[in-house]
Amino acid sequence: MNNDEILRRISELKEEKNAVILAHNYARAEVQDAADLVGDSFALSLAAVGTDADMIVFAGVHFMAESAYILSPQKTVLLPDADAGCPMADMVTADALRAAKKNYPDAAVVCYVNSSAAVKAESDVCCTSANAGEVVEAIDKDEILFVPDKNLGHYISTLTDKKVHLWNGFCPIHQQITAFDVLTAKAKHPNAVFLAHPECRPEVLAHADGIFSTAGIIKYAAVSDEKEFIIGTEQEMMHKLMKDSPDKSFYPVSKYAYCANMKMATLPSVLNALETETTKITVPEDIRVKAKKSLDRMLAAVP
Ligand code: 13P
Ligand code: SF4
Repeated sequence: MNNDEILRRISELKEEKNAVILAHNYARAEVQDAADLVGDSFALSLAAVGTDADMIVFAGVHFMAESAYILSPQKTVLLPDADAGCPMADMVTADALRAAKKNYPDAAVVCYVNSSAAVKAESDVCCTSANAGEVVEAIDKDEILFVPDKNLGHYISTLTDKKVHLWNGFCPIHQQITAFDVLTAKAKHPNAVFLAHPECRPEVLAHADGIFSTAGIIKYAAVSDEKEFIIGTEQEMMHKLMKDSPDKSFYPVSKYAYCANMKMATLPSVLNALETETTKITVPEDIRVKAKKSLDRMLAAVP
């Protein structure tokens, strides 16, 4: 089957099964183009709740599909490749978090949405990169244990007076972006502004002109009067940036910022997911109910 035939079959099956395709901003360009919605983790969570589709094919990673199921268990949630995980999400387990909570009895546990359902179930509230500051400010405690991303946690600690305890997790893709990369890119493109994702190291964020979620970066670039941008996040972002702002120039800060897990959803694997209804993502009901509370508190904290 060629791409056109695959796309035709995908749209037939979507109609037949009342399915939607949700794709993250790091998904392959051709998968983004076949999707009903492309966005950041927050927008995709909202879409999972808001859609009246019976089936969601998630062109992203496991925790995103899991969040969709947690919020909308009556829908069939499919991950085209069951191996598409997030290494950062694996850097905290529910057991380790339960043990750590004993060391911080007065702290509220805030977990980045890049985490397992079991970790969400052990947390007080979730956040995404789009709303972390607001979520933390809405908490009625002065002490926070933030898991698993130490870089996002550190960034939040610069926005709040609350005491933020950090977990030692990180995104391997953002972690390999260095301050030297930023300085090199700035020297090469002296008129460009530097937009960074908060999963970057603090010394990288220190050089940023704007710090946003993936969707925030795309939106900022589209509405800004600036014409040139150095982009401090995963490189597939170039696709939507250039699509939404064709008159502007975008330069990836590092050619190494590539998330292979996000590339596991391909057009053939999306078609296979729709045809075979695999791989279904579910969560045991007791964990789902607790994890949903953390996601619901996040949704209640952001207007
Ligand atoms: P966003 O929620 O900003 O899209 O980020 C998700 C992610 O995994 C970034 O690495
Ligand atoms: Fe996880 Fe990093 Fe990939 Fe995002 S870019 S899914 S945080 S490994």
